Amino acid sequence: MTLQLHNIIDLQNYSSLALNLDSPVISVLGLGYVGAVTSACLSNIGYSVIGMDKDKVKVDSINKGISPIFEMGLPSLIRESVEHNNLYAVDDIDHAVLHSDITFLCICTPSGEHGECDLSHLINVCESVGKALKYKNSHHTVVIKSTVPPLTTQNELIPVLEKYSNKKAGEGFGVCFNPEFLRESTAIEDFNNPAVTVLGVSDKLTESIMSDIFNNFETKIEVTSIEVAEFVKYVNNCWHATKVTFTNEISRLCGAMEVDACSVMKILTADHKLNTSAYYMKPGFAFGGSCLPKDTRGIKHLAQKMGVSIPMIAELNNSNSDHIDFVVERILKVGLKEVGLVGLTFKALTDDMRESPNLVLMQRLIKAGVDVSFYDPLVHATSHLGTEESLRELIQKTQYTDLGKFVAKNKVIVLSHNDDTAKHALTLLSDEHFVIELDCKEDDQC
Ligand SMILES: NC(=O)c1ccc[n+]([C@@H]2O[C@H](COP(=O)([O-])OP(=O)(O)OC[C@H]3O[C@@H](n4cnc5c(N)ncnc54)[C@H](O)[C@@H]3O)[C@@H](O)[C@H]2O)c1
Repeated sequence: MTLQLHNIIDLQNYSSLALNLDSPVISVLGLGYVGAVTSACLSNIGYSVIGMDKDKVKVDSINKGISPIFEMGLPSLIRESVEHNNLYAVDDIDHAVLHSDITFLCICTPSGEHGECDLSHLINVCESVGKALKYKNSHHTVVIKSTVPPLTTQNELIPVLEKYSNKKAGEGFGVCFNPEFLRESTAIEDFNNPAVTVLGVSDKLTESIMSDIFNNFETKIEVTSIEVAEFVKYVNNCWHATKVTFTNEISRLCGAMEVDACSVMKILTADHKLNTSAYYMKPGFAFGGSCLPKDTRGIKHLAQKMGVSIPMIAELNNSNSDHIDFVVERILKVGLKEVGLVGLTFKALTDDMRESPNLVLMQRLIKAGVDVSFYDPLVHATSHLGTEESLRELIQKTQYTDLGKFVAKNKVIVLSHNDDTAKHALTLLSDEHFVIELDCKEDDQC
């Protein structure tokens, strides 16, 4: 077996590593739940991997071919990789970085005292990685797998790497944020078959190096910015927690009414059109209409009556109202007094005004002293305006039926609907107009 190192520093330590000459050597810093699985899975598909941890017990364990953590399937992978000389471990960061081309950081980022993400371990490691990179002549890729808040890599980690390496990210070394989606207990299967592989990259070379590695797996690769990749991981976990909490609240309510929760959830999740799909999940404006506000209020009332606590569901309408306030603030910040809403019904392509968030938006803007008018050809005398005379008067007073005159009057145009009327309005705007779109455009990525 030929031995050729990409960065020859210490042949002695390498004498047992079977190097695949075409592949980069990978170092994995942190041999906990993520690092041990990453080391085992990458070495098992043929990469030469150097694991590194400050915990000597984990290092010794790997070198004996024994898994440092309990995870189904991991012991045999580690044993095989060590036996085939594709994996060994050290407790020396310099060694791991200087003998590799790509370094994965799988370092713990626990909660701090106030719930903040404690970056201290990761920053310490970046400092050491930076110091080692200073002595490397060849290109190196630093891959962050640890979960961190968005912009951490850009604002906290890259500056440390640059300071101690005296090199620039994207030039002297590449940076990738590659969130890990594995679940303990099914970690090997999840690592090998993730739903998606996300690569937040600093530059094209890094994209290509990382794509080469993950092209070994069949999963679709999403290349994006580093901060999107960072936040996707946080949002994923938040979404999972939301699903569990929602389901448990429904289950508690079902229990109190002796309704079969499993049947309810089974039918709910079988609807892939509206329920378990991207539907209702595009960033946009508040919900409204004749059903969602009414029925979420109804379920809250039902739970109160039954003495069941469902805090998350009970807060839905408050959160929805906060979202309308958020948009009011955004419009007020523009600082112009004449604001035109294109679309007033509760959503596009309906004349239904019941619980329209756009009407609430208009009313809150008026309360804040703004001169608001609207253009919506679907609003008419029978558009469910209720019995309140004042609302009918407001609609009459603020409705424009001529889009040209409406656009000429208002320098701030709020597109409440994303429809042909909104598109038409856009064609009439001048450079003086300030446009706020509340819903995603059709060609937006989401
Ligand atoms: N556990 C999971 O299921 C999971 C899944 C996805 C993402 N994550 C994220 O991945 C990261 C790692 O998680 P984990 O569960 O593997 O953590 P872990 O605590 O099991 O492993 C972290 C390892 O880093 C080592 N370490 C700490 N400081 C070090 C230093 N200065 N030098 C060398 N090694 C050092 C520790 O000794 C430990 O072995 C976290 O950010 C976590 O949020 C975890």
